[in-house]
Amino acid sequence: MARDTLSVTDNRTGATYEIPISDGTVRAIDFRQITTGGDDFGLMVYDPAFTNTASCRSAVTYIDGDRGVLEYRGYPIEQLAEQATFLETAYLLLYGELPTRAELDQWTHDITYHTYVHENIKKFMEGFQYDAHPMGMLVGTVAALSTFYTDAKHVDDPRSREIQTGRLIAKMPTIAAFAYRHSRGLPYVYPDNDLSYTGNFLSMLWKMTEPKYRPDPALERAVDVLFILHADHEQNCSTNAMRAVGSSRADPFSATAAAAAALYGPLHGGANEAVLRMLTEIGDRKNVPEFVKRVKAGEGRLMGFGHRVYKNYDPRATIIKRAADEVFQVTGRNPLLDIALELERIALQDDYFMQHKLYPNVDFYSGIMYQAMGFPVDMFPVLFAIPRTVGWLAQWREMVQDPEQKIARPRQVFTGPARRDFVPIEKRNSRRKDAA
Ligand code: CMC
Repeated sequence: MARDTLSVTDNRTGATYEIPISDGTVRAIDFRQITTGGDDFGLMVYDPAFTNTASCRSAVTYIDGDRGVLEYRGYPIEQLAEQATFLETAYLLLYGELPTRAELDQWTHDITYHTYVHENIKKFMEGFQYDAHPMGMLVGTVAALSTFYTDAKHVDDPRSREIQTGRLIAKMPTIAAFAYRHSRGLPYVYPDNDLSYTGNFLSMLWKMTEPKYRPDPALERAVDVLFILHADHEQNCSTNAMRAVGSSRADPFSATAAAAAALYGPLHGGANEAVLRMLTEIGDRKNVPEFVKRVKAGEGRLMGFGHRVYKNYDPRATIIKRAADEVFQVTGRNPLLDIALELERIALQDDYFMQHKLYPNVDFYSGIMYQAMGFPVDMFPVLFAIPRTVGWLAQWREMVQDPEQKIARPRQVFTGPARRDFVPIEKRNSRRKDAA
């Protein structure tokens, strides 16, 4: 009879251990019993960058990286992008089920009526340098929200969690739009609660002297679809930051600021910005083969390609590529698209990219679309952070209520010097490894 266990023999001692397997997983703590005796601490598992470690049990998002599958609460991303709105998707991620009409109306109303920020938040943002990066402003301002909503520290109170969830989802577009207007030296535009979530965001970004801003329905829908695609992606770097910071029972504004900071990096949410810079640097389709050669020679990476989990085409990239055509009908074709298509064509036939299973990811085409819509490159990570806030919150709420979760505190393999005695300053020679 097959048993759901793993038999481990420690060749140092000859002892055998039986480790339970459940959900295709063994528990790292079960290896601690494996010792050589005496003061041996017990065996640890070493996994830098968590390449093969599940840090939680989660019911929010499912990814099959080999087959290119992404599902939110069981619903395929393709169906959500086709048939749902962003706020409907947000409800699904947070509460586990699609809302009824009455639930969606109530939810939309609740979010719409929390879009305003305190006037002091506006003043706070006015203090940023005139050329501050909008993502830096977003990170700082979201952290500052915790000083306005001190009730947010009651993370174990379900009512408080509910209020902060609504506040964050509602205010994120307002802060993002203020950051954009600030970086352009334009006056901030207050929310228009008659418009949809994305329509209002576009109004706060683009409204000038007209009494009422009316978003182009095709662009409004395109942004909504992009928001759906970016809403969650299970245990990515920023979500891990949200869970890790939240595990110390920090308030959700501080944890969201930490998650947004993680998203800022060029290997994560900053990648679409890096893609645009890369395509601009390539400049012409004819330069693509030379660029690919340089990447293969180790001179930088092909930004927007590769993924820790997807070893197949990222399903979000397929949807974005299709949605881009609809946007270009309104905005005109972005000339960078031709370079991107050529880059994809050449890379997908190339041995290096095939062997490494490197395919376009979500960021490869999103930047081209954002640019065609008129977003400056430095707003791209901000456009990622707005919808991902929903995923961060869904994961944070799950973590706070998970009885198995404790403060996130990894172990280390110590590689420093063994104990030694203090050396008085007059007897020291410089030994710094990085000293000239
Ligand atoms: N271009 C060229 N080579 C690459 C690339 C790339 N974009 N990505 C990975 N490789 C190579 C890498 O050099 C390594 O080769 P070797 O084994 O010969 O040394 C191998 O593939 C494995 O790479 P890795 O860095 O160990 O893989 P990872 O899982 O740690 O990294 C990644 C995943 C997304 C950080 C990486 O693929 C990358 O840097 N991509 C470019 C940045 C990017 O597009 N990021 C957006 C990710 S999707 C949205 C999001 O998460 O925010």
